[in-house]
Amino acid sequence: MRLFRLHGSVRGSFGTAVLFLIASACAASQLSEPISPIVAEPISPADMPIVELGEKLFNSTLLSGNMDQSCASCHDMKHLGGSDGRPKSIGTPGHPGRRRTPSIFNVSNNFVQLWDGRAATLEDQIESAIYDKSVMNSDWKTVLERLNTDPALRALFDSAYGAEANAENVKDSIAAYERTLTTPGSRFDRYLEGDDTAITLDELRGYQLFKQYGCASCHQGVNVGGNMFQPLGIIGEPGAYFRENPGATSLDQGRFEVTGDVADKFVFRVPSLRNVALRPPYFNDGSVPTLDLAVQLMGRYQLGRSLDDNDVKLIVKFLGTLTGSHRGVPLDESGKHP
Ligand code: HEC
Ligand code: HEC
Repeated sequence: MRLFRLHGSVRGSFGTAVLFLIASACAASQLSEPISPIVAEPISPADMPIVELGEKLFNSTLLSGNMDQSCASCHDMKHLGGSDGRPKSIGTPGHPGRRRTPSIFNVSNNFVQLWDGRAATLEDQIESAIYDKSVMNSDWKTVLERLNTDPALRALFDSAYGAEANAENVKDSIAAYERTLTTPGSRFDRYLEGDDTAITLDELRGYQLFKQYGCASCHQGVNVGGNMFQPLGIIGEPGAYFRENPGATSLDQGRFEVTGDVADKFVFRVPSLRNVALRPPYFNDGSVPTLDLAVQLMGRYQLGRSLDDNDVKLIVKFLGTLTGSHRGVPLDESGKHP
């Protein structure tokens, strides 16, 4: 489909009429869209005990070395879009986190895990979280001893796996729970599925700009991101982004820390933009407080474009349509229900 420059010449009532035509054309030709809707997959009855156990473990402090935090302490699934709202993770006593806690809604749709992709699967991520000093700071021996001396948990392991807790089934159940953390039903997905009234005209214009500027060359697919690695700061000399933005932390060299390849300096997995409006601050170091600023910086350092304020506002409006629902409750409402 042809991309339209919607800002500037196409304005006013004539522009509005044109936009309605574009709106219908877009809904009709969703196959060519760079973003695809999240498909809600019901949990099979056979998997239910495994998922329920995984959710219990996710919320259990028995997994942390000094039993003072659970996975949910940092990944708040009720209030903060699956993140913690802090610029950098709180870490554990004596071992502060180095990066911002990412949202784990829709994680199973990312091609690798963590900002630098050093975990290939959800199970690998859990393995590293148990030992990581700034996450659980523990080890399997300690964790399994605790889980297997808790009668209620033993019963749950028995009904889910017919066995006591071991490293494999702990990872399997938490990962199974994480795979259920999808957020279908966003207004944008409804639009993609053919409901032209699901988003406003401004939001549609924002989406057109998102495609037209080239944002969708990196933020695409079902997670609107999460399917490739890209450097932070492609435009200009290497490292210009960090020099020109004093709050940004160049100490984190991203994927270079995993591969040792100079070409991977400051390369990160492109983050998903699902539910992005709910979880400031932004970027891997949490140095960007607002979505407006994140969009401006992206234009400048990823695309070499200076976005005017109106275009930024429209793109931010579009990003707001990516907020979905979990277990039937819209994420922007879920904090209001205890
Ligand atoms: C102290 C805070 C903290 C705790 C506790 C914690 N996490 Fe995280 N989590 C983080 C941070 C920070 C990252 C990003 C680290 C990185 O990329 O280097 C992360 C990343 C992740 C990711 C990858 C998300 C993505 O987008 O790549 C998953 C999945 C995850 N955590 C699940 C868990 C699970 C399961 C537990 C419990 C076993 C847990 N976390 C405990 C802070 C925490
Ligand atoms: C060349 C690839 C690329 C392009 C093009 C691109 N981005 Fe990004 N985007 C990234 C990467 C990589 C990050 C992660 C930066 C970091 O935190 O280190 C990111 C981060 C973001 C974030 C912050 C997300 C978060 O959770 O912290 C937003 C919002 C965003 N991009 C929106 C946009 C918009 C809007 C455009 C178009 C104006 C755009 N991006 C263009 C690669 C790209």
